Amino acid sequence: MSFTILKKHELVPTVYLMGIAAPRVAKKAMPGQFVILRIDEHGERIPLTIADFDAQTGTITLIFQKIGKTTRQLASLAAGGSIADVAGPLGKPSVIEKFGTVICVGGGVGIAPIFPIARALKSAGNRVISIIGARSADILFWEDRMNEASSELHITTDDGTKGHHGFVTEVVQNLLEHGGHSGQIDRVIAIGPPVMMRAVASVTKPFGVKTVVSLNPIMVDGTGMCGACRVLVGGETKFACVDGPEFDAHEVDYTLLMSRLAMYLPEEKEALEPYEH
Ligand SMILES: Cc1cc2nc3c(=O)[nH]c(=O)nc-3n(C[C@H](O)[C@H](O)[C@H](O)COP(=O)(O)OP(=O)(O)OC[C@H]3O[C@@H](n4cnc5c(N)ncnc54)[C@H](O)[C@@H]3O)c2cc1C
Ligand code: FES
Repeated sequence: MSFTILKKHELVPTVYLMGIAAPRVAKKAMPGQFVILRIDEHGERIPLTIADFDAQTGTITLIFQKIGKTTRQLASLAAGGSIADVAGPLGKPSVIEKFGTVICVGGGVGIAPIFPIARALKSAGNRVISIIGARSADILFWEDRMNEASSELHITTDDGTKGHHGFVTEVVQNLLEHGGHSGQIDRVIAIGPPVMMRAVASVTKPFGVKTVVSLNPIMVDGTGMCGACRVLVGGETKFACVDGPEFDAHEVDYTLLMSRLAMYLPEEKEALEPYEH
């Protein structure tokens, strides 16, 4: 069985949106979950978050950044083409309850996974204050969707080309100090590069606000068997594919996460070489 690509386009430079016919995944998907796909039978398995899903049309939307061999191959596929395997939905869904006021932070390509979570939290009756950030305005995407999914939307760019000139953490800090328009902040969820998630965690910790991050370690089987996605949370070993990917931000060992992510850099560089010429 293969999975048909219904649409594909470049959202902003190096970031692509792909719509795939995957009725069984779309039927069961919940915010916070991901798929593991393999382009063809010789391909590497890579995890991508389900950025959107529609049970009625049987489609899922993936947003991915072109960084290495497999994401480059994926970016070269077109609508009408197909993908050999799309396994999922995998991972524990995000906890969606009525918490009160929730800050949702999406950094870079992390805007894609935060979107369905913000939307579901708003539907559950929360006041959702979203903060989306990117290095520069030209690589910021889904501002319209995030606006709809939030009660209040803040934008940050590292170079000041749009919104607040600086990092998402500065807006988080400001909201925690002044409570936003709504008073108390009850929960924070942050998805983005590990350095950003670590920085958000250190900003929220002194305020004692429950903070959740979605971890992105290297994954292979996605079933808790291979151990590739091992992370340390609260001093305990967890497998992000089955125990996560969301964890208590204040308990995660980010140093280990980052060093394990960099473990295969020489092999990844070698795999990329034929595609660079
Ligand atoms: C649960 C989860 C959800 C993710 N969701 C998204 C998403 O929605 N959009 C997106 O752009 N990226 C997402 N990622 C990261 C994505 O899986 C990697 O960018 C991708 O695997 C890179 O593969 P590559 O061959 O193109 O690059 P490579 O050159 O092989 O690797 C580049 C970098 O990507 C990471 N990586 C490589 N292989 C894997 C792997 N098998 N599993 C996880 N990380 C890997 C490593 O940090 C590595 O240094 C997610 C990762 C996880 C764990
Ligand atoms: S990916 Fe193998 S245990 Fe999680």
